[in-house]
Amino acid sequence: MSETIHPVTPEWAKRAYIDEAKYNEMYARSIKDPNGFWSEAAKRVDWIKPFTKVENTSFELGKVSIKWFEDGVLNAAYNCIDRHLEKRGDQTAIIWEGDDPSESRHITYRELHDEVCKMANILRLRNVKKGDRVTIYLPMIPEAAYAILACARIGAIHSVVFGGFSPDSIAGRLRDCKSRVVITSDEGLRGGRTIAMKANVDAAIEKVNGEVDWVVVVKRTGGKVNMDPKRDVWYHEAAAVVESECPCEPMNAEDPLFILYTSGSTGQPKGVLHTTAGYLIFVSMTHQYVFDYHDGDIYWCTADVGWVTGHSYILYGPLANGATTMMFEGVPNYPDNSRFWNVIDKHKVNIFYTAPTAIRALMQAGDAPVKKTSRASLRLLGSVGEPINPEAWEWYYRVVGDSRCPVVDTWWQTETGGIMISPLPGAIAQKPGSATRPFFGVVPQIVDADGKVLDGECSGNLCIAKSWPGQVRTVYGDHERFEKTYFSAYKGKYFSGDGCRRDADGYYWITGRVDDVINVSGHRMGTAEVESSLVAHESVSEAAVVGYPHDIKGQGIYAYVTLMAGVEPSEALRKELVAWVRKDIGPIASPDLIQFAPGLPKTRSGKIMRRILRKIAEDEPGSLGDTTTLADPGVVTDLVNNRQNKK
Ligand code: PRX
Repeated sequence: MSETIHPVTPEWAKRAYIDEAKYNEMYARSIKDPNGFWSEAAKRVDWIKPFTKVENTSFELGKVSIKWFEDGVLNAAYNCIDRHLEKRGDQTAIIWEGDDPSESRHITYRELHDEVCKMANILRLRNVKKGDRVTIYLPMIPEAAYAILACARIGAIHSVVFGGFSPDSIAGRLRDCKSRVVITSDEGLRGGRTIAMKANVDAAIEKVNGEVDWVVVVKRTGGKVNMDPKRDVWYHEAAAVVESECPCEPMNAEDPLFILYTSGSTGQPKGVLHTTAGYLIFVSMTHQYVFDYHDGDIYWCTADVGWVTGHSYILYGPLANGATTMMFEGVPNYPDNSRFWNVIDKHKVNIFYTAPTAIRALMQAGDAPVKKTSRASLRLLGSVGEPINPEAWEWYYRVVGDSRCPVVDTWWQTETGGIMISPLPGAIAQKPGSATRPFFGVVPQIVDADGKVLDGECSGNLCIAKSWPGQVRTVYGDHERFEKTYFSAYKGKYFSGDGCRRDADGYYWITGRVDDVINVSGHRMGTAEVESSLVAHESVSEAAVVGYPHDIKGQGIYAYVTLMAGVEPSEALRKELVAWVRKDIGPIASPDLIQFAPGLPKTRSGKIMRRILRKIAEDEPGSLGDTTTLADPGVVTDLVNNRQNKK
């Protein structure tokens, strides 16, 4: 593991909001006096009615309850738009860069206000009220921002479903949160290819027995779609007949803002619920300090709004700060591998935030596509979503940033709402591959398998010992599952599901998931979800899915499949199973490798020994460990001989 150190430069220590001394002082205060620290931080948002209580939280199993600023009243959309109008009405809020490089738009805060109000009025006219769930299934177009903020404006809870999910996945989410309204588009456009958004929504609604009242359809490509006259409305037609003013609903600090479904180690994806004040304050503060955002900066996060990164760091955080934030519809390698860098030059981007998987893919394309662009506007680089290997970090720093821009490797999760562990560029020296030090108010602890808190240099499981304002409040509709998932493994602590090492300097190094979740190109996927999809195929009797190291994706999906008696393994069947999972869950769940196995390694009580399957998938058959407890140790030989990932 690399231990190169990139110190904070004197210019950065000087220009940044937070230098090392300030970090130490503020961090200490945030721990010693959380109520004082966060009540001051809460001044960064405008309140309709100020709060009198700050933190009221308990991590005690059976009584887990997380409340911040609980008697305050505010509105998130007001804070992201209206309060900026006087000073920044004509400033660009969103730069939209289309899939086709010839298409881009600048949307001012005033225009954003009008569009969000129109979308809000469209929803109101259809009887959407505070607390109702609205499902958003949109590509990366400005209307996605309008839809999200319109929900926040009227107090509806948005549930954004990533555009790469299948009708089944949409249906599962519609059903879980009983959402009666969907906002979608005719089609999406990515890398020059269209995606059938409306058709996917139609198929999903069929799967929930038509239990959706309204579908608002944004025209993106003009492709042909079916419109049900009783249920479907064109956004542009509806928007033409509503006002561009809509009052903001006063929301309690703990009223839900959104649900975002995420994969866990068991069962169906969970609806992670975030509420209003704590989330907004946390994402606004982290956005300002981690990216050292100053007025006038052009900031670009390449995530999709379908993931938490898009929620927190394309929309809520930057807009709460009155920033200019970019939304990119396309992909890194279309029309060619210089796209990111050309976009940076075109819009003079200062702060760029992307995922290691994109960095690795572009690194493979060589330095030339980067070097033919200027990137002189860049000042800071960020990484998120998965561990970044030191080689990719150094390439990002040296080639993309011309050894000029600090790299902030930000560790966090859908559940944490915002960035938890990351360098602050003016305060913390960076070590490639390490997310470095905790943000204010964050108390990481590394525990061993028995829950013992480890000190100093150590490795173990990453927990967070105290609540922070951006924390998930519950799993929508299932508080028991919430408590069990996050608070039952280690008493009195939030368990992240990640493994972690702390070095002698107190730096944190995230080593990846320790549960049955794999991280494919920065997207979380539950192995259980892929397994249940595979076993739903008529030829499959049993399946076990594990992750394995993948050069570009970080982790790839490796599926062991046992076939029904009489079914012969074949290349055709392999392809069919990949297509099956793709259709069932979505392209991000496609298995990369499938191994047909006559039997799986099980204990005598019938439990699949995943440790062995992981080692075989990692092509390390020499370190399988103890196999004597297997019911039939013979299956291992066949598995090893037929492994699909031979180096
Ligand atoms: O394993 C960690 C990894 O991504 C997981 C969270 O995934 P998700 O909820 O989809 O949110 C992704 C965007 C915040 C974590 O449990 N992860 C995220 N960021 C990093 C990371 N692993 C290492 N380093 C990171 N910077």
